[in-house]
Amino acid sequence: MTRLSGQTAIVTGASKGIGKAIATRFAAEGANVVVNSRSAERAETAAEAVESEAAEEAPEQAGAVAGIAADVSDYESVERLVDETVAEFGGLDVMVNNAGITDIQPAEEFDPETWREVIDVDLNGVFFGAQVAGKRMIEQGDGGAILNISSMMGDMGFKMRAPYCAAKGGVNNLTQTLAVEWADDDIAVNALAPGFIYTDITDQTQGSAGYTDEDVRKRTPMARYGSLDEMAECALFLVSRDNYVTGEVLTADGGWTADAWRYWADRGE
Ligand SMILES: NC(=O)c1ccc[n+]([C@@H]2O[C@H](COP(=O)([O-])OP(=O)(O)OC[C@H]3O[C@@H](n4cnc5c(N)ncnc54)[C@H](OP(=O)(O)O)[C@@H]3O)[C@@H](O)[C@H]2O)c1
Repeated sequence: MTRLSGQTAIVTGASKGIGKAIATRFAAEGANVVVNSRSAERAETAAEAVESEAAEEAPEQAGAVAGIAADVSDYESVERLVDETVAEFGGLDVMVNNAGITDIQPAEEFDPETWREVIDVDLNGVFFGAQVAGKRMIEQGDGGAILNISSMMGDMGFKMRAPYCAAKGGVNNLTQTLAVEWADDDIAVNALAPGFIYTDITDQTQGSAGYTDEDVRKRTPMARYGSLDEMAECALFLVSRDNYVTGEVLTADGGWTADAWRYWADRGE
């Protein structure tokens, strides 16, 4: 028996990166998984890859995988994502609100449109996903698990990322609030707050943020980036409903946020 057999999970923003790794791990653990992206083509291509990788990993138990396009910042689109998932697999047990974007600029230069775009995906998108999924789980009456992908940057200031940090800080509090509201319905709501994991988002930000891979390694107590497999492992724990954990923000950052001393040391003070 695998950890998620018989369950249905949606992973938003699963065409690549952390979302794709989580989708693959969940499918290998027996869940039927919906891989979401803004583009139908990318969702379907990723769904095929996820299904075959999961089947290779767990030939006897892997679940089925479907790709469904939806923009998480659009409420109706999220409703359709959940409706289509239920039509395909008969219910919804696990919702992973992973889709995310960022933008790197000095705080004084963010134009309102860019600010709203990041907040729309990274905070509003998480609430829409959680709300629509939570409503469905309450109707089903059988509980469920919601996992919001936050960031260690939700818990501290980080230069050039005002809307991203604000959104992730909001996600952390939203996670606690929803966990409290839905505990009676047996819906666990948790967040995973990764540190530096090498994906396209890292590639996109590294150049403009003014630091290098070597800087990240030096600043991280574990002296390396986290891996996609490690994030998938944390996600699996947080959606497994046998651990008494809800309202938790699990930081997986190789010790970055624990280590205030290195912060000062690296500034040469
Ligand atoms: N990588 C890191 O170091 C790191 C650290 C901390 C937190 N995180 C968080 O982890 C999550 C995943 O990041 P990642 O590094 O894996 O990023 P990534 O490789 O850039 O992937 C982002 C995913 O989000 C999807 N997406 C973006 N906007 C969307 C929207 N409006 N609706 C639906 N899907 C959308 C993209 O799909 P399409 O482009 O195909 O639509 C893509 O699949 C994000 O929430 C990010 O903030 C990442």
